[in-house]
Amino acid sequence: MSIIFHEKSKIFHLHNDSISYIMMILENGHLGQLYCGKRIHDREDFSYLLEKAPRPMSSCVYEDDKTFSLEHIRQEMPVYGTTDYRHPAVEVLQENGSRISEFGYQEHRIFSGKPRLEGLPATYTEDDSEAETLIITLKDELTGIKVELSYTIFARGGIVAKNMCFFNEGNGSVHLTQAMSLCLDLPDYEYEWIQLSGSWARERHVKNRILTHGITAIGSMRGNSSHEQNPFIALKRPSADEQQGEVFGVSLIYSGNFLMQAEVDAHDTLRLLAGINPSGFDWKLDPGEHFQTPEAVLVYSDKGLNGMSQTFHGLYQKRLARGYWRDRERPILNNNWEATYFDFTEEKLVEIAEKAKECGVELFVLDDGWFGKRCSDHAGLGDWIANTERLPNGITGLADRIENLGMKFGLWVELEMVNKDSDLYRAHPDWILATPGRNQSHGRFQHVLDFSRKEVVDHIYEMIAKILSEAKVSYIKWDMNRSITECYSAVLPSDRQGEIFHRYILGVYDLYERLTSRFPHILFESCASGGGRFDAGMLYYAPQGWASDNSDAAERIKIQYGTSMCYPISSIGAHVSVIPNHQVFRTTPLHTRANVAYFGAFGYELNLNKLSEEEIKEVKEQVCFMKKYRKILQFGTFYRLKSPFEGNEMVWMAVSEDQKTAIVGWYRILNCVNATFTRVELQGLNPDYQYRNSQTGRFHYGDELMNLGLITSDSTAGQAEGDAVPCTDFESRIYVLEAVE
Ligand code: DGJ
Repeated sequence: MSIIFHEKSKIFHLHNDSISYIMMILENGHLGQLYCGKRIHDREDFSYLLEKAPRPMSSCVYEDDKTFSLEHIRQEMPVYGTTDYRHPAVEVLQENGSRISEFGYQEHRIFSGKPRLEGLPATYTEDDSEAETLIITLKDELTGIKVELSYTIFARGGIVAKNMCFFNEGNGSVHLTQAMSLCLDLPDYEYEWIQLSGSWARERHVKNRILTHGITAIGSMRGNSSHEQNPFIALKRPSADEQQGEVFGVSLIYSGNFLMQAEVDAHDTLRLLAGINPSGFDWKLDPGEHFQTPEAVLVYSDKGLNGMSQTFHGLYQKRLARGYWRDRERPILNNNWEATYFDFTEEKLVEIAEKAKECGVELFVLDDGWFGKRCSDHAGLGDWIANTERLPNGITGLADRIENLGMKFGLWVELEMVNKDSDLYRAHPDWILATPGRNQSHGRFQHVLDFSRKEVVDHIYEMIAKILSEAKVSYIKWDMNRSITECYSAVLPSDRQGEIFHRYILGVYDLYERLTSRFPHILFESCASGGGRFDAGMLYYAPQGWASDNSDAAERIKIQYGTSMCYPISSIGAHVSVIPNHQVFRTTPLHTRANVAYFGAFGYELNLNKLSEEEIKEVKEQVCFMKKYRKILQFGTFYRLKSPFEGNEMVWMAVSEDQKTAIVGWYRILNCVNATFTRVELQGLNPDYQYRNSQTGRFHYGDELMNLGLITSDSTAGQAEGDAVPCTDFESRIYVLEAVE
């Protein structure tokens, strides 16, 4: 890996074995984009890639030159209102009402490693040899606004991490009304755009769009990254698929309002923007102040979507997630939410935990309802003190009882919220986000605390830190059950109200940072009504997230498949729940519910006391299986083989680092009659190893399994003849392939 600057041609070339990223200081001092893609040889001068031509209708920068128009030049930091009419990456509103700026090159620095981002989640290095960083400084002389564009290339994988930081070195205030983290101008638009979209209980479904002239965009204006759209997109060449071909992935390490946008212009070039959603954003920058954008991560893969996902998984697992739990196999848990909802007593909880312990479960999690007057969703949020009517011995007493069973204890919180029926709200009615004179809309009867205010975050921190330091709590599920409305802070001046959404999420990050550093052994799982804030920003603090409130196995196949596009399997909270399922009222076999949840941070979301003896036997086997293979399932190399969005069957697999063990999950939604013979070509095996197939007992070479495929036919062909046990709908199988000497 290296970053080269060619003094004469003024060209930067960032490259490693996988990627080349080439930029140039243009004749007007702006920064031009020349190439981003598969690694190419370096050369002194790539300026031939700058495409200029005299075009009749173009607006031009220089008096005597009809060829230099920013409209036709690919750029790194295009600004509003110049000769470029595409959407800008940056817009600066000045005191005289002008929005025009001119950022010209000043200097640059190249160094080993990667600096941390102040107050924001970001990828990191543990050793300076893992990455190199280039910081290019541009300045607008008229306003004195300076911007540092930071590019980090990692030694391994086609990864470039990018952010910008603005400094006001002038005498007047300005307003940043657009400050995107990443702008990538590509020379053509022959790509399919892939996004992860959905809604509550059907998050991150894979959706493809064909790019065409104009705007293609996704975003959130809800204050959280949202169930509806995820801050990730991929651009895939039409001929690329899961296993081969060119793909770009862009992920924003941010949990608030975001925008990801592709603009195809009249000359067929493609501008990709990713960053804070400019809608409603207005950050006042006084002299001496600075503003840091979130980080965007660009991944290039010439090995299809799986190649892209594996690069994200490796980076996010090892160099975004942090702390004690980062590399550790995740405990198998039993959460009481779907078992009891708000209807529990200490005794009932202990009974559930006892049965879980008998089955080999390692962690018992107490969900919503343990604090204040929280007996329904109408009251109690904000009062983080145990309800001693339900838990006579408080959280400390319950945690001790669970620990005495030989299990760890975990707790649910929703720290950003308050019910009006709470002591906290009665004491501090001005602590919620609410616009004077306007309706205060609720969501699930709750309101959002103004986390842009330090005193609010401090107060919540003190309350929860007290519990965590007194009781034996090993796990926290951090929930967030509504989006923001009427966003306004009681304390900020009118010209800073456009900062609240971002300040809010900075407050959330601050609280996460304080709690994770004070309680480093606690495993944090993020949650927002399921998967409403399942993003890379959260992964920095919480190495796993509850993927969805939908725990139905058939629904989960799609949700987890989509989630795996960007996020590691170890980060996907996935539980076995009861039938009929509580969200879709569907009945699926117990083994299928587990076979889906194995590919995630595994657990149970039910009262195991209600299962039959035969089912408990099966649960015990599931727990043993997960304990034996979770390292591979959660941290192995993951491949998507068959998409649930394209047919009745879905297949994925995980391979151990030494390629000696592979676990294939095969799933079929509806049963077939007189079914066809099916096979699936596996990936990532050693062609020369012989593997034993756990389903058949037969041995196959890796090259057999990868080229002629693993037979996945239903041996009964959907018929029930003789002794054969007929399959049903929602059938699934796990194939364990172990290499033999
Ligand atoms: C939403 C979460 O996603 C559920 O798992 C549960 O924790 C409830 N909130 C509790 O209110």
